[in-house]
Amino acid sequence: MGNLSIGMVSKLLVLLLFHLVVANFVDSLQQLSCHAKETLALLQFNESFIIDKSASRSKVAYPKVSSWKPAAGGNSSCCSWDGVECDEMTGHVIGLNLSSSYLYGSFDSNSSLFSLVHLQRLSLSDNNFNYSQIPSSIRNFPSLTHLDLSASFFSGQVPSEVSHLSKLTYLNLCCNMLENETSPDNPQRLLKLQPSDMRSLVQNLTSLETLRLSYINISSIIPVSLTNLSFLTSLSLTQCDLSGEFPVKIFSLQNLEVLRVRYNQDLTGYLPEFNQSSPLVSLKVGFTSFFGTIPSSIEKLNSLQELDVAQCNFSNSLVPSALGNLRQLTYLDISKSRFGGPIPDSFANLTQLTVFRVSTSSLTGPIPSWLGNFSTLVHLDFAYNQLIGSIPASFSNLINLEILYLQGNNLSGVVEFQMFQKQQNLYQLQLSSNNFEFVTGSNIMNATVQQFTVLGLRSCNLKEFPYFLQNQTNLERLDLADNKISGEVPNWMWNLSKETLIFLDISANFFSGELPAVIPWVKLQCLRLSFNSFHGRLPIPPPSLLEYGVTNNKFTGEISPSLCNMSSLLYLDLSKNNLSGTLPQCLGNFSDDLVLLLLGSNSFHGMMLQPFNNRSSLRMIDVSHNQLQGQLPRSLANCVMLEYLVLSNNQFSDVFPIWLGTLPELKLLAMRHNRFKGVIEQLLTSPSYAFLICLTTIFSESVRFHLCFQILL
Ligand SMILES: *[C@@H]1O[C@H](CO)[C@@H](O)[C@H](O)[C@H]1NC(C)=O
Ligand SMILES: *[C@@H]1O[C@H](CO)[C@@H](O)[C@H](O)[C@H]1NC(C)=O
Ligand SMILES: *[C@@H]1O[C@H](CO)[C@@H](O)[C@H](O)[C@H]1NC(C)=O
Ligand SMILES: *[C@@H]1O[C@H](CO)[C@@H](O)[C@H](O)[C@H]1NC(C)=O
Ligand SMILES: *[C@@H]1O[C@H](CO)[C@@H](O)[C@H](O)[C@H]1NC(C)=O
Ligand SMILES: *[C@@H]1O[C@H](CO)[C@@H](O)[C@H](O)[C@H]1NC(C)=O
Ligand SMILES: *[C@@H]1O[C@H](CO)[C@@H](O)[C@H](O)[C@H]1NC(C)=O
Ligand SMILES: *[C@@H]1O[C@H](CO)[C@@H](O)[C@H](O)[C@H]1NC(C)=O
Ligand SMILES: *[C@@H]1O[C@H](CO)[C@@H](O)[C@H](O)[C@H]1NC(C)=O
Ligand SMILES: *[C@@H]1O[C@H](CO)[C@@H](O)[C@H](O)[C@H]1NC(C)=O
Ligand SMILES: *[C@@H]1O[C@H](CO)[C@@H](O)[C@H](O)[C@H]1NC(C)=O
Ligand SMILES: *[C@@H]1O[C@H](CO)[C@@H](O)[C@H](O)[C@H]1NC(C)=O
Repeated sequence: MGNLSIGMVSKLLVLLLFHLVVANFVDSLQQLSCHAKETLALLQFNESFIIDKSASRSKVAYPKVSSWKPAAGGNSSCCSWDGVECDEMTGHVIGLNLSSSYLYGSFDSNSSLFSLVHLQRLSLSDNNFNYSQIPSSIRNFPSLTHLDLSASFFSGQVPSEVSHLSKLTYLNLCCNMLENETSPDNPQRLLKLQPSDMRSLVQNLTSLETLRLSYINISSIIPVSLTNLSFLTSLSLTQCDLSGEFPVKIFSLQNLEVLRVRYNQDLTGYLPEFNQSSPLVSLKVGFTSFFGTIPSSIEKLNSLQELDVAQCNFSNSLVPSALGNLRQLTYLDISKSRFGGPIPDSFANLTQLTVFRVSTSSLTGPIPSWLGNFSTLVHLDFAYNQLIGSIPASFSNLINLEILYLQGNNLSGVVEFQMFQKQQNLYQLQLSSNNFEFVTGSNIMNATVQQFTVLGLRSCNLKEFPYFLQNQTNLERLDLADNKISGEVPNWMWNLSKETLIFLDISANFFSGELPAVIPWVKLQCLRLSFNSFHGRLPIPPPSLLEYGVTNNKFTGEISPSLCNMSSLLYLDLSKNNLSGTLPQCLGNFSDDLVLLLLGSNSFHGMMLQPFNNRSSLRMIDVSHNQLQGQLPRSLANCVMLEYLVLSNNQFSDVFPIWLGTLPELKLLAMRHNRFKGVIEQLLTSPSYAFLICLTTIFSESVRFHLCFQILL
């Protein structure tokens, strides 16, 4: 029976094993129902937030929690809820991914979330936690390997407890910041990390593969121990106020694919000699103080797709032609460098580029026509170089182009707007300040399909108003200055992009006619109408305006008090018009930040503006060539930043304003042709009078000779 029984036994064993395995499997299935406590914790966590669509910015955001439902029978399988992941054996919640889920509300340190002690992966990115601190209870998650709290409006100090999470392989605290509308490169950072916490974080979290701390104010040097993180594949430290020398050994990390340290102005360092084994995919060190040269061995980085070395201190005098061998490049930014010379021919092989920026450098020669082969190009910026020649006809092949900046070169030739008609996604076009002749074509009815946000056609020899603008609803910046456009501004212009326009410059043309009583653009910040022949009443801009320039026109009438509604104004230039009447006293109520107030060469009469109490930003006041009378307001002495005060050719009658001697920055006080009188001797002896004075006509020539060291006006 030996053989048989052995066979039977083994069959039995197989059967037994099979049963055991299946039984276990079924068991684990049953256990997948959530632990009641954890279900409750998740529900409580959910209830501490409201769903608010503005809390997430991702296009694929949706409220994951709206699918969460306690089951009818009482116990639910929270494990099947969207964003929840359970351990198959124990049923414990080990993953919670509520990224981009429209969550809005404050985050408590005692939040029920922290009872989910088995969590290994936590993603809460792209929500709005209302400036909450990152709770120190994060230490309750000793098993965390993945923590993503990016772009969620956390603020304050990053708790040192993060560095206790020694199993972390992925840590992303990036981008907790507020956008800065006026200066996109300078967002307001909400998080801070103590230098000592940065050190312990790097020393303790030795398993890290991804470390993203961009836009956290760290304000320290990069800890050398970072070079010990041998598993690191991705390191992002953009705009962290890092200083000192970047440890060059970081480039030797065997697995490093992504290195981003842009916008750390005080961070120095240099690029090493590279070799073929480097897996670098993205290298962005722009806007730092990296120095030395871009080594030609950079061409060995076979995997490199993104390179940003803009605005560093690299000393190569020519555009490094070795970059042309980086055939995988999709993103190349070498702007604001010392690199000069022509665009190297080797670049003809960079056909994968989607972003190509070489602005504000010393490029010479023509734009190569092979650029027309870069069919994937989306963003091309050659602004502010010394390029010559014309725009190659091949550019019309760049059908994916969205942004084209060529302004500030010596380019020439006729540019027909039709050339851009195939580029249906083009929304920013800057051709200003070249020697172009831009022609829009005679077919007025053919409105363009593109919706531009930025259009720069300054000094483009335009002779007529570009009619293709007619259907633009999204314009933010429109520059048509310094052209040869005559006649009236077309009526449809005043209906254009009403909700979006921020900047409009049509100065230095031959425009004439009257303007609407009220400027219609609600967000407008800059309006320049100067050097034209506009007449009639001065139009009233919206309160958002920061700069209003109308000098050298023929505007008439009084200044309407409505002008005073521009409560944010920084620059006001109404000079050289035919404006009359008295100065509305409310002009003195302009923003405390007013810098420039130019009202000269009009026909104003009456008193000078009175209140200058909080005018500590004013640098220049010019009211010359009017018929202003009476005394100077003594509050002028509060304008501590005042550099130029031009009062000449009026009818001021006052004692000599000796009290202006306290103004530390005053460089010019022009008072000629008024009726000032006073004690001149004091002037000559007082050491505080470091400014130049061009005196009134009542003093003799010889006195004036001594005092007017330099007559500027
Ligand atoms: C989640 O919270 C929201 C808002 O407090 C609430 O309306 C919703 O019923 C909650 N969902 C569950 C499953 O409790
Ligand atoms: C729900 O779970 C609790 C504890 O896990 C258990 O005591 C209870 O019997 C379950 N109720 C139902 C309806 O399954
Ligand atoms: C979290 O969910 C989002 C989708 O909402 C997904 O894109 C992301 O990859 C997930 N994160 C993790 C770590 O699974
Ligand atoms: C957000 O924070 C502010 C200030 O702390 C508070 O007044 C407000 O109620 C919070 N909003 C929510 C939804 O928690
Ligand atoms: C957290 O503590 C605060 C008081 O410190 C309390 O008002 C709140 O209800 C607590 N929240 C939870 C979820 O326990
Ligand atoms: C490192 O982590 C351990 C816990 O894992 C903690 O006790 C220790 O304080 C941490 N060290 C630093 C320097 O943070
Ligand atoms: C925005 O940036 C400008 C220029 O860098 C800066 O002066 C201003 O303070 C910033 N605004 C905020 C809110 O950070
Ligand atoms: C960054 O933090 C440092 C040190 O705490 C502080 O001095 C500095 O003002 C902060 N910078 C900004 C822009 O918040
Ligand atoms: C790197 O790790 C080694 C061994 O773990 C240690 O001796 C050394 O001090 C570490 N270096 C730094 C800079 O932390
Ligand atoms: C582009 O690459 C090919 C193949 O490596 C090479 O033969 C050619 O010279 C390169 N073109 C330029 C313009 O450098
Ligand atoms: C204007 O549009 C018409 C009809 O869409 C088209 O046939 C014509 O070629 C266009 N003209 C120009 C100059 O693009
Ligand atoms: C463009 O605007 C004009 C009037 O401003 C209108 O007649 C025309 O239909 C519009 N064209 C398109 C394509 O929207």
